[in-house]
Amino acid sequence: MPRKRRIVLGGLTALVLAVGGAVLGAAIKGRPITVPKETDLAFDLPAPVRDSLYYASLAPNSHNAQMWRVTAYPSRGELAIGLDLDRLLTVTDPAGREALISLGAFTENLVQALEAYGYQVEVTATQLPAAGQPNSADLPSPAVTVRYAGQPAEPDSAGRQTLAAMTLRHTEKRPMSAQPLTATQLQALNAMAGVTYFEHGSDGFTYLATGTVAAYRDQANDPAARQELANWLRLSDGEALAQRDGLPAEQLGITGITKTLYYLTTSQADLTGDTFANQGISRTEKQVDGAAGFAVLVGDDPITAGRDLERLWLAATRAGVSVQPMSQLLEDPAAAAALPAALNLSGTPQMILRVGTVSGSYGENLGLRRPLAEFVTNGDG
Ligand SMILES: Cc1cc2nc3c(=O)[nH]c(=O)nc-3n(C[C@H](O)[C@H](O)[C@H](O)COP(=O)(O)O)c2cc1C
Repeated sequence: MPRKRRIVLGGLTALVLAVGGAVLGAAIKGRPITVPKETDLAFDLPAPVRDSLYYASLAPNSHNAQMWRVTAYPSRGELAIGLDLDRLLTVTDPAGREALISLGAFTENLVQALEAYGYQVEVTATQLPAAGQPNSADLPSPAVTVRYAGQPAEPDSAGRQTLAAMTLRHTEKRPMSAQPLTATQLQALNAMAGVTYFEHGSDGFTYLATGTVAAYRDQANDPAARQELANWLRLSDGEALAQRDGLPAEQLGITGITKTLYYLTTSQADLTGDTFANQGISRTEKQVDGAAGFAVLVGDDPITAGRDLERLWLAATRAGVSVQPMSQLLEDPAAAAALPAALNLSGTPQMILRVGTVSGSYGENLGLRRPLAEFVTNGDG
């Protein structure tokens, strides 16, 4: 082969290898992160109780801020659950309503996991005024006490299914099918008191879809709300794994090569800019369009509503129904006050959930949660 052609071919091979390497590198970077499960503590707490606390932490919670803290009293089999006041979303959730819902969801997982391990469980929740708390400084601490007793055992088949549902449950940001749910799937959603379902195309659905986009737009244009969200967004795998909280690409529904591009092209300053806000608005428009329906959960007390939310979500998971809370309407006081009359609801709306099925695999929880040692302390010592 003439020397010149050999050089050209050699150059082409090098280019192909370089491009291939870059594509492979990007694909590897775009992979979902793997988060270790860390349940070690510096004091004695039975392994099944530590495991149950890990499952509890897989509960849904606003912005994945994980605003719970637990004081354990191993001597008397007691776990006191309170709010971590440094992790509250004071702009979008000034009364701490969503924080208490998150705590309720944590409690529900904890109770069901302890029971799966064979414990007898008793729960005491601090009674809250029906209207919620005036400000976060008045939030009760601890809000919930969980007592466990008896001898733990390996979970039986029902217990294993419960724990498996907790690891599958996740917030689905992808568009869902607008096709009606099956009768069995609807039964899973309607099995709980306090849930009203609005099918795609119904007046109630249209009211919720339009209102959600409008409330999202208002929030996206509010500098304080933008900044609060930006504080919880993570912009690299390294940051997500160091912080173990908040919303990395995966939790915004951004995966694969798009995740790589998102991380490469987005700076901290971009997160509070107009372009990012507008992308969020158009993502929300697509999300409300892609849903089989909305489920609205009512209830007077946010902790109980949080427990109900998690029971409902675990039932939906088992029925193959995907769920995404959409809270912006409820975060706007005037819109939230108008909701019961507009939708003929028989109580205070606590959660609005977009529900439906996704094509392909159901997906699973990313498991981006803090090690137990960061939120569990020893009350005996
Ligand atoms: C009270 C509450 C409000 C929430 N509001 C929203 C919301 O408006 N939009 C959304 O996409 N997810 C919302 N979520 C879901 C959380 O962002 C999600 O639970 C958290 O990031 C952890 O992710 P995971 O559910 O996949 O475990 C909410 C969750 C709770 C408990």
